[in-house]
Amino acid sequence: MTGELEGPSILATPPGHCWAGKIRTATPADIDAIVAVERSAFASPWPRSAFVSEIDGHRWSHVAVAEEGRTLVGFTVYWSVASELHLLNLAVDRAHRRRGIGRDLVAHLIAFGRNTRHTEVLLEVRVSNLTAITLYRHFGFEDLAIRPGYYADNGEDALVMSLVLSDTKSEQRSAS
Ligand SMILES: CC(C)(COP(=O)(O)OP(=O)(O)OC[C@H]1O[C@@H](n2cnc3c(N)ncnc32)[C@H](O)[C@@H]1OP(=O)(O)O)[C@@H](O)C(=O)NCCC(=O)NCCS
Repeated sequence: MTGELEGPSILATPPGHCWAGKIRTATPADIDAIVAVERSAFASPWPRSAFVSEIDGHRWSHVAVAEEGRTLVGFTVYWSVASELHLLNLAVDRAHRRRGIGRDLVAHLIAFGRNTRHTEVLLEVRVSNLTAITLYRHFGFEDLAIRPGYYADNGEDALVMSLVLSDTKSEQRSAS
């Protein structure tokens, strides 16, 4: 995933205040709003064309958005790769952070993974992104590996994290 922008978040509501929206599958009509959230969240944002192709192009790609009223407040992109789900992107609008939206987006993709019999969720995150790492650990994601110099913009290492969804996978991993 790309790099989180530095600087304090602008809190629309105090931490702990729940959001009152829904999570749904993205459509092409969401692309402008997704790109706006992406650009506000990352120093090296994905280009618009990436979201066009994720939403339109690949049967393995899934894009879910969090929507409150008519406002798109966050999104996630994940791929189904054989038995694994790969979390590729996750961002919440800076004005709506710390309201449980990121948590609900991650919960959404984990539920998708369980319902569709995927065995594991995998992701890469910058080692400096303690906010996201804390969020993932909350769900039980564990550290799997470090990819040295993974991020081209600043050469930062990636932490690979994994959440096992099936007992079979878990047994395979503890036996190896
Ligand atoms: C990471 C991100 C998606 C979290 O979204 P969010 O809606 O603010 O997160 P939530 O409100 O659901 O928080 C869930 C938990 O994550 C952790 N968390 C979230 N923000 C945090 C912060 N600023 N500091 C420490 N922990 C934090 C906490 O454990 C929190 O639970 P709590 O509020 O009960 O303490 C958001 O900060 C973001 O868009 N960051 C920029 C993009 C990014 O880094 N994406 C991930 C790339 S791998």
